[in-house]
Amino acid sequence: MLPDQHDILWTFLSILFTVFSLTVFVIIVQYCRERDDVDGKKWGGIFGVFLIANFLCTKHMFTLVQGDQLIFIWWQVLVVFVQLLVWGIFCKSDKIESQSPPLIRAVFFWVVIGLLLAGYTNWLPQQRSDPPPKGGAAISADLTMEEFADMGRVIVFGAKQVAGQKSIGKGQCPLCHTFEPGNNIGRCPNLFGVEERSHTRIKEERYLNLPVKIGEKEPATGVVKGKRDGVDPAYQRGGSDDLNGEDYLRESLMCPSCYVVTGFGKEGDTKSPMPVISKPPISLNPVELNAVIAWLQSKDTPGEFSKVTVPLPSAEDSAPKAADSGEEEERPVFVTGEEDIPTMINTLGCPLCHTIPGVEGAVGELGPKLHEKTNAPLRIKDSRYEGKATNTKEYVRESILCPGCYIVMNEAEGELFPDGVMPPDFANKLSVKAIDKLVDFIANTEAPPAG
Ligand code: HEC
Ligand code: HEC
Repeated sequence: MLPDQHDILWTFLSILFTVFSLTVFVIIVQYCRERDDVDGKKWGGIFGVFLIANFLCTKHMFTLVQGDQLIFIWWQVLVVFVQLLVWGIFCKSDKIESQSPPLIRAVFFWVVIGLLLAGYTNWLPQQRSDPPPKGGAAISADLTMEEFADMGRVIVFGAKQVAGQKSIGKGQCPLCHTFEPGNNIGRCPNLFGVEERSHTRIKEERYLNLPVKIGEKEPATGVVKGKRDGVDPAYQRGGSDDLNGEDYLRESLMCPSCYVVTGFGKEGDTKSPMPVISKPPISLNPVELNAVIAWLQSKDTPGEFSKVTVPLPSAEDSAPKAADSGEEEERPVFVTGEEDIPTMINTLGCPLCHTIPGVEGAVGELGPKLHEKTNAPLRIKDSRYEGKATNTKEYVRESILCPGCYIVMNEAEGELFPDGVMPPDFANKLSVKAIDKLVDFIANTEAPPAG
């Protein structure tokens, strides 16, 4: 996985190439001045073009992240290679004696070394060595509630939370939810104040009866609604059978359709588009799930943990994966295109929102079903369509890189899908190769045959 940043090596190589072109250009001009029989305009022009091409390559290099730089440097190497060939032609056609000044030989040498180096680092597994995440504190006898809730925060946001930036951890919650007062991005409830709500929700008439009644099994997850022991035993809390706020939060995570917040569900608010957090692809284990609840219960009262009701894990509890997946959370999401399709798609989180034929477990409901072989041509023909795509692949690419360019109609609900829910920054998470591969796959998705 490559970080979302430049690599000084590639930028430096690129600058060297431009400096080289400039030197060659100067040498050519000198030759032409010294000898009348050489067509100075022609050769000066040709090598001038190489100089400009190299300069533009270098300029472009500064705008790329490492993953793309690795690919782009090859184009510039090609330019330099052609330039060296033309140099050969120049010497031959004008019968220039000292064919290869030391500089040219040196650059030949460096281009070869550069190519070998590029090949080598491309082949090496890409790694970064960052300090271990602070929030991933190991479970020990002296773990405090503050540390446990912080573990939950890391599961939600990842270890590197930067103010003002959307960071997403293993739990993937910020993909859909917001947490600050007043920040409502669309289809998913703002989780500010959810601790308070957790106590009143369970008294609502809607909670008692809709979409299933208390004591009934919710069909999709098998969770018995409104019962402390209605969930998988590994995730149950101990203590009294009286329903409390913690039960509501746990149920929200393990059985989203047990209670669907008004206005945020499908099929008349009877079905939740939220994924079951204890199941794949997110798969939080019981300790991780409790850590998230501890964070939800304490996040609105910084430094104050009296509202937290989940117990601290005991040393025997299976450690939250934060300890071993911590390293994973450290790295920004990035796919190189070497991964297989399901790995790429799961890493990017598409299945949380989309149902994607051919990808196991991709049954997300927040966005349209990806049947792009049939959908894309219809979108392009739509009178509302103002994008630039003229065929299916272009449409899919545009949808991924610019989700707001066209907002899909949700036929079932008779309204547009919410804008601003699909993350607009996939361009930073995909190498050129990865986006090509992803587009090829998504462009061929079709509804499974009926029946
Ligand atoms: C794919 C989008 C998505 C993801 C990812 C997601 N949620 Fe949700 N969540 C929703 C939607 C939509 C609702 C509203 C419908 C419902 O009640 O289930 C919701 C509802 C909730 C509620 C109930 C809110 C209330 O006011 O009663 C809680 C709590 C919650 N989510 C917590 C989380 C946490 C914690 C995570 C991460 C571990 C998470 N969600 C991940 C979409 C998502
Ligand atoms: C947080 C939820 C979310 C995630 C994650 C997400 N999408 Fe979307 N996507 C949506 C929503 C909502 C729409 C419909 C609104 C729109 O058109 O922008 C959409 C629309 C699309 C469309 C247009 C579909 C059509 O039929 O016209 C494509 C293609 C698409 N997404 C692909 C992807 C891919 C590929 C990924 C992963 C790299 C992804 N999405 C991740 C929510 C999401």
